[in-house]
Amino acid sequence: MDAITDRVPSFAEHASRLANTHLRELLKDKARGDRLRKRVGPVLLDLSRQKLDLAALDAVGAYVQGTNWEAARDAMFSGAHINTSEDRAVLHTALRAGGSKLKSPAPAADLEEIEATLKRIESIVGAVHAGKGPEAGLPATITDVVNIGIGGSDLGPRLAVDALAQFHVPHLRSHFLTNVDGHAAAGLMKSLDPKTTIVLLVSKSFNTQETLLNGNVLRDWIATVYGGDLKKAAGHFLSVSSNTKAAADWGIPADKVLPMWDFVGGRFSLWSAVGLSIAFAVGMEHFRALLAGAAMIDDHFRSTPWQENLPVQLAIAEIWNRNVRGSTSRAVVPYVDPLIDLPSYLQQLEMESLGKHVTPEGKHVGGRTVPVVWGSIGTNAQHAYFQALHQGTDIVPLEFIGIVKPGHALAENHRVLLSNLLAQAAALALGKTTEEVLAESKDGNQAIAAQRTFEGDRPSTVILLDALTPEALGALIALYEHKVFMLGHLWGINAFDQWGVELGKLIAKQIQPALAGKPDPSFDASTQALIAEIAARS
Ligand code: F6P
Repeated sequence: MDAITDRVPSFAEHASRLANTHLRELLKDKARGDRLRKRVGPVLLDLSRQKLDLAALDAVGAYVQGTNWEAARDAMFSGAHINTSEDRAVLHTALRAGGSKLKSPAPAADLEEIEATLKRIESIVGAVHAGKGPEAGLPATITDVVNIGIGGSDLGPRLAVDALAQFHVPHLRSHFLTNVDGHAAAGLMKSLDPKTTIVLLVSKSFNTQETLLNGNVLRDWIATVYGGDLKKAAGHFLSVSSNTKAAADWGIPADKVLPMWDFVGGRFSLWSAVGLSIAFAVGMEHFRALLAGAAMIDDHFRSTPWQENLPVQLAIAEIWNRNVRGSTSRAVVPYVDPLIDLPSYLQQLEMESLGKHVTPEGKHVGGRTVPVVWGSIGTNAQHAYFQALHQGTDIVPLEFIGIVKPGHALAENHRVLLSNLLAQAAALALGKTTEEVLAESKDGNQAIAAQRTFEGDRPSTVILLDALTPEALGALIALYEHKVFMLGHLWGINAFDQWGVELGKLIAKQIQPALAGKPDPSFDASTQALIAEIAARS
């Protein structure tokens, strides 16, 4: 096989210069700091703790500029079929075009359908909030809304509903049922009242096993209120799907199905009717504000040169760490409890989009694509894995996310939280030398001093939102979406399909009968042995 060479250049001269330049030194350069710290609306992006100097930044920027990224970006916004393996447009940006200052180049018919769907959402949500559920074909009294969906039909709405807790309407609780693990459905059914619960069955394909199974379970449960009548139980359901026929076959009539379109990928779909649970939770005004925040970043991405363009800058930091420095993962650590779901959301957005090794032409991509994305909430994370991030043998770039104004009045809590975020970023970058440790030491013990030394020079990014408002959240998510677009473009892969999830789904379907007692000798020896173990103990 031919040697695999990275599509992204090695920037060898810059890499070797910077290998010998500690972040302590880089941070002294004020002009560099000013270039690497940029604000758009409520979002401040600080890349000054990345191991880039201005010469390296300009070299990578010149490379990016030479890739014709602006034409590729414009093709996406205008609805070209850039998802070539599925021959689809990629138009999640059209879903929020109503909030843009720039005119959308998306097809007018699509923009009209999108606005019409927003109006439908508005009327359904308005009816329920006004206690007039029957106007939307739903029960009169509704206390709880359960979103059933998985992947993109769960992660985005879940993230936004949790993040915007301070904007929730009173008297309506939101729940997310995702996993096929029966513990989740059983737990929900124990705590909710089937009479006053409505269910949003969200599945673009209406063919996702976990979602349909959980839908059946909740429909059976609601049917207990109606003497087992499944049709009446379906009166508690709305669906969001591009497969209206399958939804109707399941029992949800077309007038209670909101559309998804082929041009919206699951992981980019929270701006569509997939965001119905968000609109129920925070009301239509705030849902539109979320869209407007994303539209603001769309406008910025469409109109700003690379030097000032936040998504492009984030992509530059990622290829620097991944392709030039060889990092294998990136940790995302929000110092914001309501953003607890951001790492899982980004896992799907980035790893399902960019976890590819074959180009649209069917060739090996060469070099590395997406790193593993992981993380959890700070400060908790400091007391779990930060030891390894400070002193372990692997250098893991981090992304810290904080908010300036919290949604509570506990000023001291917030000061402590933010001081920890800032301290961690500083400690990772600056470290503490053995000399500094020895200067504080009483006994001059060299071995202990070595263990208490921090090499520092460990890169991180800080993203600060002014506050966790719908606009700021929309902007933050759109920033990541466009970073993903840029990386797909730079790595030469289609960021908008997901063939890699199919094989396991298929095999699971083949294994099910074997678990129900119909042995199948065609499985490999390991799978056979485990099926036998399960059979022997169930
Ligand atoms: O299994 C991956 C996936 O296809 C995701 O891309 C998608 O977001 C998720 O499953 C759910 O799919 P659907 O909305 O069709 O149920």
